[in-house]
Amino acid sequence: MDRTLLIIKPDAVKRNLIGTILKHLGDAGFKIIAMKMLWPDKEMGGAFYEIHKGKDFYDWLVNFISSGPIVVACLTAPDAPKKLREVVGATDPKKAAPGTVRNLYGTSVGENVVHASAPDENPEREVAFFFTDREIFTY
Ligand code: CMP
Repeated sequence: MDRTLLIIKPDAVKRNLIGTILKHLGDAGFKIIAMKMLWPDKEMGGAFYEIHKGKDFYDWLVNFISSGPIVVACLTAPDAPKKLREVVGATDPKKAAPGTVRNLYGTSVGENVVHASAPDENPEREVAFFFTDREIFTY
C-alpha cells in the first residue's frame, strides 16, 4: 500500500474541523497509520516548505503554518498520494472540484485547510519529516 502525508493546517484546527476532515478522508477509503498534533515553530515550518523558498508567498506560508497547532497524519490507500490530492482538491479552494475538502472548507489559497504531499515531490520525504519508522503502524 502506498503512503502519503496529510497536514490539517492551523486554520482548520482553530475552526474545529479536525474530526470533520478525518471523517471525510476515512469515508474516502484512507487508513490512518500514524498521527500527531504539534505546533511547529518557524524553523520547522521553513524546513518543511523549503521547496517553496524564494516564492513570493514563502514568508507568509512559514508564518501561517507556525501560527497554531496542526495535525499531521500518514495515510495509506492504493495509489495514496494521487488519490489524496484528488480528494483534497486544487490548492485554491475556488478552483477545487465540488465536494473536495478544500472546496468544502477552504477559505483562500493560503488558508486552504490541508496540505497533501505532491505525488511527484517525494511523499516519503514528507512522511519521514514528521514520523520515525517506529511511529508508523501496520495493522
Ligand atoms: P500546500 O499544499 O500546503 O503547499 C504550499 C502552500 O502554499 C499551498 O498549499 C498554499 O496554501 C500556500 N500558498 C500561499 N499562497 C500561495 C499562492 N499564491 N500560490 C500557491 N500556493 C500558495
